[in-house]
Amino acid sequence: MKSFLNVQDLGNLKAALAEAQEIKQDRFKYVEMGKNKTALLVFFNNSLRTRLSTQKAALNLGMNVIVLDVNAGAWKLETERGVIMDGDKSEHLLEAIPVMASYCDVIGIRSFAGLADREYDYSETVYNQFVKYSGKPVFAMETATVHPLQAFADLITIEEHKTCPRPKVVLTWAPHPKSLPQAVPDSFAEWMNAADVDFVITHPEGYELDPRFASNAQVEYDQLKAFEGADFIYAKNWSCPGVTNPDKYGQILDDYHKMMDWTVSARQMAVTNNAHFMHCLPVRRGMIVTDEVIEGPRSLVIPEAANREISATVVLKRILENL
Ligand code: CP
Repeated sequence: MKSFLNVQDLGNLKAALAEAQEIKQDRFKYVEMGKNKTALLVFFNNSLRTRLSTQKAALNLGMNVIVLDVNAGAWKLETERGVIMDGDKSEHLLEAIPVMASYCDVIGIRSFAGLADREYDYSETVYNQFVKYSGKPVFAMETATVHPLQAFADLITIEEHKTCPRPKVVLTWAPHPKSLPQAVPDSFAEWMNAADVDFVITHPEGYELDPRFASNAQVEYDQLKAFEGADFIYAKNWSCPGVTNPDKYGQILDDYHKMMDWTVSARQMAVTNNAHFMHCLPVRRGMIVTDEVIEGPRSLVIPEAANREISATVVLKRILENL
């Protein structure tokens, strides 16, 4: 695997899920595989889970790890070509990438959407520059449009907790005071569409996800109706993807104070099939979900986060196998 961005990069999903369980039984089974190999993890944005779980995954495989926080100690990087660099950015990504690549064997990238220019974000400009100019395998640690390590961990968690062959999984928009990227819901939708689940998306009108991720998933604008009979509720906020309203890309469409009915609470969970609650974290309590639901017995947010180590170990192993 030379690049990990989308679900198809992992190949057969059932095989990947089986491999996840194999690694979960013995996290150090392949500890010799990464000997004398170095993973460089480049963060343009903050992280807790991705930073720790991906480092742990690399250690599980016997790799060395270097972590670079671009905005905390490195030169501020220009990412766009053709600009006159007379501002606060001292180095261009086009020099920085091959330099970084010379010190490692594999590169992980976290680079969120700027939410100002839809085409720039949805072209995965930063990630693709790493692919093009590093000459090394590159994997996404949440890029402008996708967060596949999260979606894979989410799928592992659903597989572990489902009690019927084809559970109903609902992705629900929930309110948030800031504009957030669409990477998590994009990937979750993409991976659920590829998995053996009945998948429904619910959000207020105007928040339609890009069809390359949402595909033919059922969209239900009535949140309570969408929740009926659900086995898993996956909550997340996202800003306007600009699918039906390109001029609103990256914006919050309505003041969040008016949207608090969408906060996941016991009221909505009552119409589900005793559903599990999921969220990628970090989560704003009282906005996305009530304390009662996230602390309740059906909440999976901690095992879901723990599975990030497993998803990252499988992905790094696949990359190492092809070095
Ligand atoms: N879910 C997730 O990616 O968490 P972090 O932003 O803390 O890495």
